[in-house]
Amino acid sequence: MNEIEIHLRARYPLIYLISWEETRLLESLSSTCALLEKDLYVWTVTDGLWRYSDPKEKDDTRNSPMAVLDAICSLKARAKSVFALLDFHPYLDDPGIRRKLRDAARKLKAGNSSLILVSPVQIVPPELAKEMAVLDFDLPSPDELTGALEQFLEAVTNKLRLKCSITKPGMEKIVKASMGLTLDEFENVLSKCAILHEEIDLGIIPDIIAEKKQIIRKSGILEYYAPEENLQQVGGLENLKIWLKQRAEAFTQKARDFGLPEPRGLLLVGVQGCGKSLTAKAVGATWKLPLLRLDVGRVFSGIVGSSEENVRMAVKTAESISPCIMWIDEIEKGLAGTASSNYTDSGTTARVFGTFTTWLQEKTRPVFVIATANEIQQLPPELMRKGRFDEIFFVDLPNYEERSEILRIHLRKRNRDFTTFDVGRIAAETEGFSGAELEQCIIGGLYDAFDAQRPMATTDIIRNVAETVPLSRMMAEHVQALRSWALERARPASARAMEE
Ligand SMILES: Nc1ncnc2c1ncn2[C@@H]1O[C@H](COP(=O)(O)OP(=O)(O)O)[C@@H](O)[C@H]1O
Ligand SMILES: [Mg+2]
Repeated sequence: MNEIEIHLRARYPLIYLISWEETRLLESLSSTCALLEKDLYVWTVTDGLWRYSDPKEKDDTRNSPMAVLDAICSLKARAKSVFALLDFHPYLDDPGIRRKLRDAARKLKAGNSSLILVSPVQIVPPELAKEMAVLDFDLPSPDELTGALEQFLEAVTNKLRLKCSITKPGMEKIVKASMGLTLDEFENVLSKCAILHEEIDLGIIPDIIAEKKQIIRKSGILEYYAPEENLQQVGGLENLKIWLKQRAEAFTQKARDFGLPEPRGLLLVGVQGCGKSLTAKAVGATWKLPLLRLDVGRVFSGIVGSSEENVRMAVKTAESISPCIMWIDEIEKGLAGTASSNYTDSGTTARVFGTFTTWLQEKTRPVFVIATANEIQQLPPELMRKGRFDEIFFVDLPNYEERSEILRIHLRKRNRDFTTFDVGRIAAETEGFSGAELEQCIIGGLYDAFDAQRPMATTDIIRNVAETVPLSRMMAEHVQALRSWALERARPASARAMEE
C-alpha cells in the first residue's frame, strides 16, 4: 500500500501532494481509486473539471477556482470520489479560497471523498496546515524505470533497428544510474541516447549521469561533484583516512548481509586550509558514490525558494539517488544564529535546522552526510549530540611528517620530481603552516622561477615561506581555542597530531 492509498482509506479530506509528474501521478491515482472503488476527477484552470475516465466531458469551472470548490461541495452524487486539482497552489493566496477549502473538508469527509492539491512546490498556508496531509509522490521506483527501459529497448531494436547489447545486470546498472530522474526525464535521456549512439550498451550511462547533473544543478542548491580528488591527494590525516577506507564497502549488500549498519555521517571540524573540504571531495571517489554538495548559504539566502522548501527538495533529491554522499561545506555559515533565530527571522533558521537534524538522525535511506566546519562558536550543540554523526574528527595543522607529505603531493601535482627538492628542510621551516599555505608557497616558487626563466629550486619555495605569515600565527588564540574545544569532543584526524 502506498502513502496515498493509506490516506484515502483513512478518509483524509484534504491532501497536498508534491510532484512534477502529473501524468505518472494521475495514472497511479487512477489505479488506486479503482481499487478503492472511488471516482477520480481532475481539475485544471484551463480545462475545468472532468472525470478522469471520460476526458471529453468537461464542466464550466475553468478559470474559476471558487466555482470548482462550490461544485465539489454541492454535488451529493459525487460521494466516494477523489478530486485532483492540478496547480491549485497560486489560489491559496485568496482568503476566500482558504476558508472554502476548510468548509469543503467537512463535506468531503461526510461523503467519503478526498480533495488532492497537486503541485510541484509545497505552499501550505498556516490555517490549512492542520487539516491538510502533505505527501510526496515518490520518484519512480527501480521497477518502474526497468519497465520504461524494457519498452525503450524493444522499440529501438524493432523500430530503429539499433543494436542492443544489454544484459540483465547491465539493465540494473542503467536503472541504478537513473535513480532520481522522473519518468519523463528518463524517457527523454533514453531517446537522446538512441540518437547519439549507434549501439545501445552500457556506454549510455555517462549520458544519463550528465543529464542527472543538469537536473540536480537546476535545483539551485545541490551540486553534483564528479569524483576527481582521491585520498592519495590528501597528505596526513591518517586516522581519518583509515576510518574512511574501512568503510569503502559499507554501502554494499555484502556489508548488509554481514550485519553492518550503514554509516550515517561525519563532521570534520578544524583549522582552515588543512584539508577538510579536500577530504570530503575525495570520499566520493574512494567510496565510488555520487557526491552532492549542499550549498547552505543558498538554502537560507532566499535566492531560490523558501528555506524549508529548499531543504526538503535537497533531502528528496539526495534520497532518490541514494546511496550517495551529501557534502555540507562550512555548515556553520548556514546555521549561524540558530539560537537567536527567534528574534531575527521569526524562527525560520531554527525550524529548518530542526528539520534537518531530525532527518540526520532518522533518515532511512543511505545518504551519508559529510559536514565541515571552520568555526565552533556558531555550531549549535544539538549537532554534536550522539546519533547525528558517526564520528567528529578534528583536523589540526599538519605536523612535520604531514607537511613533508603535503609538499610531496603538491610538487608531484605540478609535475616536479620531489626527490630533487629538500622537502625535509621546507617542512622544518613551515611549522604552523596549513596545507593550503604550503601549496601557495610552491605556487609562489613556481612563479618566481618561471619569471626568472629557470627551473624551480628549493630556495624558491623557502623564499616564499619566509614571506608568508601563516594564519595560525596571526590567529594563535583562535587555533588554541579550537584545539581545546576538540580535545574533549572530537577524535584527532591525524595519527601523530600530538607529537610535535
Ligand atoms: N592535508 C592536505 N593534503 C594535501 N593538500 C592539502 C591539504 N590540506 C590543504 N591542502 C591544499 O589546500 C587546499 C585547500 O584546502 P581545503 O581542503 O579547502 O581546506 P579546509 O580545511 O579549509 O576545507 C586544498 O585544495 C589542497 O590543495
Ligand atoms: Mg573548506
